[in-house]
Amino acid sequence: MSVTIKEALLRASFLLREAGVENPRREAEALLCAGTGFPLAHIYAHGEETLTEELHTRYLDWITRRAGEEPFAYICGEREFMGLPFRVTPDVLIPRPETEFLVEATVAALAPYSQPHILEVGTGSGAVAVMLAVLLPGAQVTSVDTSLPAITVAADNAARHGVADRVRLLTGDIYAPAAAEEIHFTAVVSNPPYIPTAEIDGLAPGVKEHEPLQALDGGPDGLTFYRRLTRELVLLSHLPDILAFEVGAGQAHSVIQLCHTAGYKKTRQVKDLAGIERVITATRL
Ligand SMILES: C[S@@+](CC[C@H](N)C(=O)[O-])C[C@H]1O[C@@H](n2cnc3c(N)ncnc32)[C@H](O)[C@@H]1O
Repeated sequence: MSVTIKEALLRASFLLREAGVENPRREAEALLCAGTGFPLAHIYAHGEETLTEELHTRYLDWITRRAGEEPFAYICGEREFMGLPFRVTPDVLIPRPETEFLVEATVAALAPYSQPHILEVGTGSGAVAVMLAVLLPGAQVTSVDTSLPAITVAADNAARHGVADRVRLLTGDIYAPAAAEEIHFTAVVSNPPYIPTAEIDGLAPGVKEHEPLQALDGGPDGLTFYRRLTRELVLLSHLPDILAFEVGAGQAHSVIQLCHTAGYKKTRQVKDLAGIERVITATRL
């Protein structure tokens, strides 16, 4: 059965509306653009054009997945972060806009250093590690994740954005893979899992049923990783000069205390666009 662009779009908008998806028409358009490679203007100018059976089948599959609350980024396999496209799969957290503040704050804190060596903990898609390498051409970045599939996605993204030679990806637990090395990391950067375990169940289905649990679960009070990231610094051969952490809503004060206890007395907080204290940077010197 042949279906025109206009008919496919109408049907898809209807299915998404029925499923309770917000902005069904816009999502239907965006999935059609991503699935066909047509710009939006083409979709409107050539509504009577027939979709090939292959494109139509794929579009219906994508719409069905979206109606089942699968995140748009996993369906299309891509998400933009700081203006660059990043490959994402269900093995990695979809990079969030608020994490851009972590990258910006780290770049600002590293301004005095021309050749910093950055250790990122919790690579995921590699969005943070890759953007730090892109924005700091003199930097070397080492990034660690327990998830080998995530490391594979991050490697693709590093290659895609031309920084694979300055982003080293290691599999392992927090500082373990870098602990034996004689490197003085200038900064430790992390957007660790920070959702308190008991709150995971109350997250939106698109998050709790599709994003990796190990990227979300921050332990009983959400602070498990910050405790480890600050206490286990002693495993590194040299203490880093700077710490930069993304934090969840209401966690800033506790994380600042942990930084102070670890000897990082000078701290700075950055709010996100919603006014939430989102990033803590701390310096030792
Ligand atoms: C919140 S995600 C952050 C991903 C990415 N950096 C970002 O900001 O979009 C946290 C990441 O930490 C990783 N992770 C969880 N436990 C870890 C551990 N013990 N050591 C290293 N990485 C870990 C998860 O696999 C996940 O990729």
